[in-house]
Amino acid sequence: MDLEGAGMSYVEKLQCGSCREEFPAGRLWSLCPDCAKPLLVRYNLGAIRELDLRGRLANRPPDMWRYLEVLPVDSRDEVITLGEGFTPLLPMPQLTRKYRVRQVLTKDESLNPTGSFKARGLAAAVTMARKLGARKLAIPSAGNAGGAMAAYAARAGLESYVFVPCETPDANVLEAEILSTKVELVEGVITDAGRLVGERKDAEGWFDLSTLKEPYRIEGKKTMGYEIAEQMEWTLPDVILYPTGGGTGLIGMWKAFDEMEQLGWIGSTRPRMVAVQSDGCAPNVDAFFKGKEHAPAWPSPVTYAAGIRVPAAVGDFLILRAIRESGGCAVAVSDRETYDATSEVGRAEGLLYCPEGAACWAAFRRLRAEGWIRDQDRVVVFNTGAAQKYTDFIRKFQASSGE
Ligand SMILES: Cc1ncc(COP(=O)(O)O)c(C=O)c1O
Repeated sequence: MDLEGAGMSYVEKLQCGSCREEFPAGRLWSLCPDCAKPLLVRYNLGAIRELDLRGRLANRPPDMWRYLEVLPVDSRDEVITLGEGFTPLLPMPQLTRKYRVRQVLTKDESLNPTGSFKARGLAAAVTMARKLGARKLAIPSAGNAGGAMAAYAARAGLESYVFVPCETPDANVLEAEILSTKVELVEGVITDAGRLVGERKDAEGWFDLSTLKEPYRIEGKKTMGYEIAEQMEWTLPDVILYPTGGGTGLIGMWKAFDEMEQLGWIGSTRPRMVAVQSDGCAPNVDAFFKGKEHAPAWPSPVTYAAGIRVPAAVGDFLILRAIRESGGCAVAVSDRETYDATSEVGRAEGLLYCPEGAACWAAFRRLRAEGWIRDQDRVVVFNTGAAQKYTDFIRKFQASSGE
């Protein structure tokens, strides 16, 4: 097996995604010290291009660290891993036929450690936090990120502090209770949990792993973009539907496509990126249609798709930029549509989508009916987590809607 890549990382610097100011990697960073926007990792892609890495991937382990040279670590030895990544890209033959499109595929992220795609970002972020000297990690979470952070922190021998809204699926809370140093239930939503972490982190000595408030979660998440390209034999789909809360996955994939083009692995054609939100919490959809660069916080967010109950995102401008540059769009669906979408995918394909994934399927149906998704399109739909973690939320939705 090819475990090459042992040596120094190809990271050149960190760069602010907004003001473009540059900073040296090699120490812990949070937001850009100049403008308080997210920092992004920049690599020496010219040097990586020389390696003929794409040709060597076939002999590497089937996890996200197979793309080692475009990840921030020096070698596999320092990686905190539970086997995350390289999830299946599953054809959906019945639904492809029913909706008369060229192809529909599910990127099934439910098979990751801790049952969601959050494993990717947190594997990378915890690895880097430990390497750069953090000992106590804190995270505000809608549920899945908290469990993932706790798992990787435990694996790394670090303390972990998880802040989740009171209204969080019980499986997420239980998981974090078992794996973390401490879980706190917070009145309100994820942004209220984030405020608490922000207020207490200095006194407690916590390093804050909030979405996009450190540079490395996005590096883990971007591997979804590399995988889709590799699994589609170095082509990209025409459309990607992604359930968007903080938007790390969408921003990460957009970054991955750019990197891959610079590496000579793909051409300049991009998928139309679709940010899917709930109509009970749709700040980015609203901003997209109003032509805004930033998304004002959504008042009183409500949806049983807990992971997209995110009223404000620090990377909103990066989400909106990626959607617009790709020629994509943003869609808000109701919980009713989401619930119906779960049944359709489940019965047709045997795949039990989590509510966030089902929201994407609901958006697919809408966009197909409107003709925005075309006959000749190849479409990737993200199922970002395991439905089994939401049994209490799904039951509650059933009861409230008279199911
Ligand atoms: C299952 C699931 N899907 C989607 C999301 C939204 O992800 P992001 O914040 O990266 O946009 C979350 C976030 O908690 C989640 O848990």
